[in-house]
Order: sequence, then structure tokens, then C-alpha cells
Amino acid sequence: MSKLFVSQHPLVKHKLTMLRSIETGHRDFRGLVRELALLLCYEATQDIPLTPYTVQTPLAETSGFKAPEIGIVPILRAGLGMVEGVLELLPNTQVWHIGLYRDEKTLRPVEYYNKLPSAPTIEMCLVLDPMLATGGSATATIDILKRWGVKRIKYMGLIAAPEGVKRLSEAHPDVPIHVATVDSHLNEVGFIVPGLGDAGDRQFGT
Ligand code: PRP
Repeated sequence: MSKLFVSQHPLVKHKLTMLRSIETGHRDFRGLVRELALLLCYEATQDIPLTPYTVQTPLAETSGFKAPEIGIVPILRAGLGMVEGVLELLPNTQVWHIGLYRDEKTLRPVEYYNKLPSAPTIEMCLVLDPMLATGGSATATIDILKRWGVKRIKYMGLIAAPEGVKRLSEAHPDVPIHVATVDSHLNEVGFIVPGLGDAGDRQFGT
């Protein structure tokens, strides 16, 4: 089973509550998604391997560390809103977009955008998508990334359903799952309850 990390940070709980509210408009919603992504990225990168190296300060030489290059893979559309927050912490990272939408009847993911080059250009990546509902979209994206050759993958989302956590961790037990919360259940049309509604629609006003 995958390791599941549910943030306990007070600011994450505070911002998530505002994000859920039906009274939060598109502009504030986008700001909160960006801020939550930044906070979760800080937690999700807590165990990345460092390479030691030496720098010269104005006073002396000292030893320090270099972080590895981490690629980020937002799942279109809703994952886009998380990119900016992650880029504030990882400004030089590569961003690879994967486009999937969930068929409303079957709830199965349908791939519509993928411009990954034939050879992998990153060894480690963070998959970004606010909602882990049935887990179909995240599982399909990680299938694509593993076929591409990425060695180390983490999933980072905002709200997960227990069903999505189960499916993703059974399909990809090596992929840790970082989220702000795990909600109660999926309803009959595959929405997370209590959730926040449709993360793509709420960000982009559609
Ligand atoms: C939503 C969400 C995830 C997916 C989660 O996207 O952003 O990508 O559904 O569902 P799953 O875990 O059952 O696959 P949606 O298909 O609504 O597309 P959008 O991001 O373009 O709004």
C-alpha cells in the first residue's frame, strides 16, 4: 500500500475550509489552491535526497546541499491551479502537462493531451490534481509516467475520497499520496462528499 500523508498543518486546515465554502468566488478559490499547493509541496518534499557541495560565503568556505531536479505534472484542467504554488518553491522545475477528463457516465479517464518527449527528462516528479475521486485519472497519469520512465513519483492533491486512495495505492503502491484531507465518500455521480464541488469549474468560472 502507498504511504498516505494527510497534512496536519493548521494553515492547510484553515485554507481548505475556505476553499470548500460555496461562498468563495473564483478569484479567491484560485488563490487558495495556489497557497495550499505551496504548503503541501513543502511537506511532500521533506524527504528528497540531497547532494552535498561546498560554497564560499563572504567569510569562509562551508558545506551545503543541493536539491535534485523535480518535475511537476499537472493533470488538466484542475491541476493547473496548483502549478504556480509549487513553482514558488521549485522555480526551475520542468512542467509536463497531461490532459485527462473523466467521462461523466463511465467515470473512466479519457486522455486528450500528452506531449511528453520519447525519452524521460526527469527522474522524480510530483503529479498535481486537486481531487482524487475514483482515482482513475491519477492512476492513468502515473501509468503514463512509469511507461515514460520516471523512477520516483509522488501524488499531491487537495481532497481525496477513500475510494481514490484505495485504487491509487493498489495500482501504484510505491507512490506516496500527499493530500490536505480524506473526505467521507463519493456520491452516486462520483463527486467527493463533502468535497468542494468541481475544482476545474470553480477555478475557471465555467
Ligand atoms: C476531475 C479532477 C480529477 C478527476 C478526479 O477532473 O480534477 O482530474 O476529475 O476524478 P477521478 O479520481 O474519478 O478520476 P475532470 O474530469 O472534472 O476534468 P477537469 O479537471 O478538466 O475539470
